Amino acid sequence: MDWGIENRLSRLIRQDGRCQFLPIDHGYFQGPTSCLEKPSETIRELLAYADGLFVTRGVLRSSVPSNSSTPIILRVSGGTSIIGADLANETITTSIDEIIRLNAAAVGISIFVGSDYEKQTLTNLSNLVNECEPYGIPVMAVTAVGKELEKRTARYLSLSCRIAAELGARIVKTYYSTEDFEKIIEGCPVPIVIAGGPKCETELEVFEFVYDGIQKGAIGVNLGRNVWQNPSPVAMMRALHAIIHNNKTPKEAQELFEELRNT
Ligand code: 5RP
Repeated sequence: MDWGIENRLSRLIRQDGRCQFLPIDHGYFQGPTSCLEKPSETIRELLAYADGLFVTRGVLRSSVPSNSSTPIILRVSGGTSIIGADLANETITTSIDEIIRLNAAAVGISIFVGSDYEKQTLTNLSNLVNECEPYGIPVMAVTAVGKELEKRTARYLSLSCRIAAELGARIVKTYYSTEDFEKIIEGCPVPIVIAGGPKCETELEVFEFVYDGIQKGAIGVNLGRNVWQNPSPVAMMRALHAIIHNNKTPKEAQELFEELRNT
């Protein structure tokens, strides 16, 4: 691996081989999402605990302090909206010049395997890898399903993750699956981070799926709503940190969460 790519990945993935990314990119297709209406306020207390911030260029420029030392994963796919015809109909939104100008540590792009736009989004990924690799910028692929959340079976995710890695993604972000998550990991030759999905009923549910996913080989998380839609987002960040970086169990994370929530 080239020094530049290695250096950028080492800023995002800690020496323990694990990472905790914080996504705030949701507005790029769903507008002012609940608890993310003012991104600068959402991240103010959270940024220091994130190993990487997943964000579009617009929110980066408008809402993230430029003296922040948290590495940036720039969301560079889009062009659709929640009320449009098909969320999968994405394009690459951000040029390589912009990516370099914004000092991104990595870029992120969605692929929609099995959709009407499968070829288009996979070509987007390949083209982005072709553009970024010469500059040592790693690409993170997001295995997206749009509104079809029921698609998230282990078999489907395994297919999507493998294709993303084959096309050159250096990291793949995918959903946790209660069944056969280890098979998704085994079939993907690059590291996987777990995406969150809609907010869970309880904190413990989040701690349990993150813990299980890490035990089965995921290197970390990219969790948004389950952090910043929680009434105690800093406690959530820190409890997740304890699972990801300190090998704490879901029960220990829950205890820490309760303790921090009450301080
Ligand atoms: C949106 C994304 C988000 O980064 C991803 O869904 C993670 O956020 P959440 O935990 O809220 O699902 O890619 O397209």
